[in-house]
Amino acid sequence: MNYHKFDVVIVGAGGAGLMSAMQLAHNSSIAVISKLYPTRSHTGAAQGGVAAALGNQEEDNWKWHMFDTVKGGDYLVDQDAAAILTREAIDAVYELEHWGLPFNRTEDGKIDQRRFGGHSRNFGEGPVRRSCYAADRTGHMILQTMYQQSVKNQVRFFNEYMMLDLLINDGQACGVVALCLRDGSIHTFHAKAIVLATGGYGRAWRITSNALACTGDGMAVAYRRGIPLEDMEMYQFHPTGLYKVGILLSEAARGEGAYLLNSEGERFCVRYAPTMEELAPRDMVSRFIYDEIAAGRGIDGKDYVYLSVAHLGKEKIDAKLPDITDFARNYLGVEPYYEPVPIQPTAHYAMGGIPTDIEGRVVVDEHNTVLPGLYAAGEVACVSVHGANRLGTNSLVDLIVFGRRAGKHIAAKWLPEADFAPLPNAPDAFATEMVESLLARGKNGANGKNSQNGKGTGETQEALRADLRDSMMENVGVVRDEQRLTAQLARVVELKQRWRNLRLMDTSRTFNTELMEVVELGNLIECAEATVAGALARKESRGAHYRTDYPKRDDVNFLKHTLAYRTEHVGEPELRYKPVVITEFEPKERKY
Ligand code: FUM
Repeated sequence: MNYHKFDVVIVGAGGAGLMSAMQLAHNSSIAVISKLYPTRSHTGAAQGGVAAALGNQEEDNWKWHMFDTVKGGDYLVDQDAAAILTREAIDAVYELEHWGLPFNRTEDGKIDQRRFGGHSRNFGEGPVRRSCYAADRTGHMILQTMYQQSVKNQVRFFNEYMMLDLLINDGQACGVVALCLRDGSIHTFHAKAIVLATGGYGRAWRITSNALACTGDGMAVAYRRGIPLEDMEMYQFHPTGLYKVGILLSEAARGEGAYLLNSEGERFCVRYAPTMEELAPRDMVSRFIYDEIAAGRGIDGKDYVYLSVAHLGKEKIDAKLPDITDFARNYLGVEPYYEPVPIQPTAHYAMGGIPTDIEGRVVVDEHNTVLPGLYAAGEVACVSVHGANRLGTNSLVDLIVFGRRAGKHIAAKWLPEADFAPLPNAPDAFATEMVESLLARGKNGANGKNSQNGKGTGETQEALRADLRDSMMENVGVVRDEQRLTAQLARVVELKQRWRNLRLMDTSRTFNTELMEVVELGNLIECAEATVAGALARKESRGAHYRTDYPKRDDVNFLKHTLAYRTEHVGEPELRYKPVVITEFEPKERKY
């Protein structure tokens, strides 16, 4: 057995993982396991900024930020967590600045700030400049800065290791098992604390802003080990994905003054949201676009509208929006200096995930019982600061604030009292069996019979992957209903069955990306199961979960978080519920 022992193992080298690592690097032995080379993590795709009420451009207050977060999340936000998020954002951003993050600057040298969707002054009076940014490459800069600091602080990285299993023994998390992609070997990491920071699962949809690596690995591994997934039905579509490609065109464009136009050349958002216009929250703007298209006002009668930046002028475009305008040129052949850019809503962000408390500790039931030794932060986690809809720029805030809190809690509270829990017997048995049986399916075929070419019989993964993405797009998109969700749950059952019979073309152990992709596909299907089941049971509309058959929010029956537990019955997770934490802001109708 390849055995490694560290005080703390962090899985994922994006912003949340590296932020945790930075709190621990000085006083404990830590390892960061990453499926990718760290600077390729998906944090690098976040563009427009990180919100913090610094007040560098105009008056601001973290309470206003908290209110916007709660209202933006359609009141499904846990308000104790939202208070921490918005208050601690300020220190966390300054910490990044001191580590060398090259933020854009105001004339007098402070961190510059721009407008973003749903962020307002004085409890909703109008847009406020709150997003701290580095052109339209803010996530990229965060990742580079934190990686450099981690290297400087001698964090040990295991790059291109994919987590396959989580080890829990005697009621304590005690390790993870990972596949070394380079040579196909299985490695057991024994630890006193584990931080899951593996990101989201946007690759379950066909049109997505998410990188290839966003396959819900941490969520699926936890779900298989009996940990519930919270509020998975709350999945966000970002309004402005590049048409047909899905690549993000930052909301920063609208923050800088860009418009959305329908086929009649109308700025339709003004009609739907007279105060915030294009800067209403994402769930709403995505629905405005959906409604315009449904009413026949998509461009050329098709399923897209225009994002126009041309009126901002070349100088501003080049200074503030260089990357996204290059995406339009390179992928669609459109010149944003002069032409509007075709856009459509794109699957973007999981508000739900592995439930945690405000210290980043994973909790496993409706009573918030802590699973000792296990932490989660960033998109994989649900500390419930985003509720039913996340505000733009709050993802980066979430990962720096709660990545930091998890690291600090482990350092100050958990490590001083914890010991290594013994590993279970044969700790790598599940992962080894998974890999060996997948490879054997390549040689022998799913049904164990040799085919003539020695590669087995059965379906390969491409069709299955396409079926998952297309059906999720069709049935669990910007709008949903009973019929489509029921059909999708049946589809998930079918996909799980087909996954068991997949065959691999590549049976080697050396950098076998097909093996990795098949495991990822299995993970995506697990996440889809929890998402669809939660969505079917939630018979109301709230935030990103919009049901045409239940178009109203129902606080009497559904002001509560969903917890989905995997069961042996495929397609039938057990659903439980827990209350939302409300401290200051009673639920009201959302108007923008
Ligand atoms: O639009 C954007 O730049 C995305 C930011 C985010 O998802 O927070």
